[in-house]
Amino acid sequence: MRKPFIAGNWKMNKTSAETKEILAELKPLVAEATCDMAICVPFTDLSAARKELRGSNIKLGAQNVHWAESGAFTGEISAAMLKEQRVDYVILGHSERRQYFGETSETVNKRAVAALGSRIRPIVCVGETLIERETGHTEEVLYAQVTESLKGFKTRDFEKIIIAYEPVWAIGTGKTATPEEANETIAFIRGVLATKFSKLVAENTRILYGGSMNAGNVKQLMAMPEIDGGLIGGASLKPEEFARICNYNL
Ligand code: 13P
Repeated sequence: MRKPFIAGNWKMNKTSAETKEILAELKPLVAEATCDMAICVPFTDLSAARKELRGSNIKLGAQNVHWAESGAFTGEISAAMLKEQRVDYVILGHSERRQYFGETSETVNKRAVAALGSRIRPIVCVGETLIERETGHTEEVLYAQVTESLKGFKTRDFEKIIIAYEPVWAIGTGKTATPEEANETIAFIRGVLATKFSKLVAENTRILYGGSMNAGNVKQLMAMPEIDGGLIGGASLKPEEFARICNYNL
């Protein structure tokens, strides 16, 4: 059984003071939620978020990690630094990182190794662009992203790895993949896991959908058998709406 998981990706939004306020408002609203939950905040908000989330059912996440333990990597953050902030999850290879910051599946793989080494669960993002979808390259792109980002991992590692399928054309555009489209594409990703890793890995790994997911469409998306949760951008910044998403089944 794959337990549903709803994670918020705040991207480059909110100061520490705002973080404290939003999370204080959110906590009681999701106290009865039955899914796993996490909020992935900017690095500078981790400390405020950690304090605010102490004792709550919401886990803390970051939005990237470097692969090296330490050293001359100006502007980067190590897994040990995140662990010290009690980070449980880290988003890796988000399409915005791939698009604007030269992130590749090869570096995502190295970052995922570092995260697991510090017992932080990687949320590995994959997804095709509009052009790739329209020209019939979705499967080829996803196959490459999944196999290269997850290269070398063993069945045991997959207990901690989460995959997020985020079609780039659905991010921040208000354009959601239809539940059927998302389900079908996630089924394809599961098929890749079965062929490249094992049937067990395919059956047990949680695969989330991301891209304009909100309180209005969460139920239809979560009703799909292959969709195990959501990675929520814009809607995760609004406590009431994010709570409605987390409480989709109550
Ligand atoms: P939106 O929910 O704002 O479309 O963002 C999705 C996303 O990129 C989550 O990582």
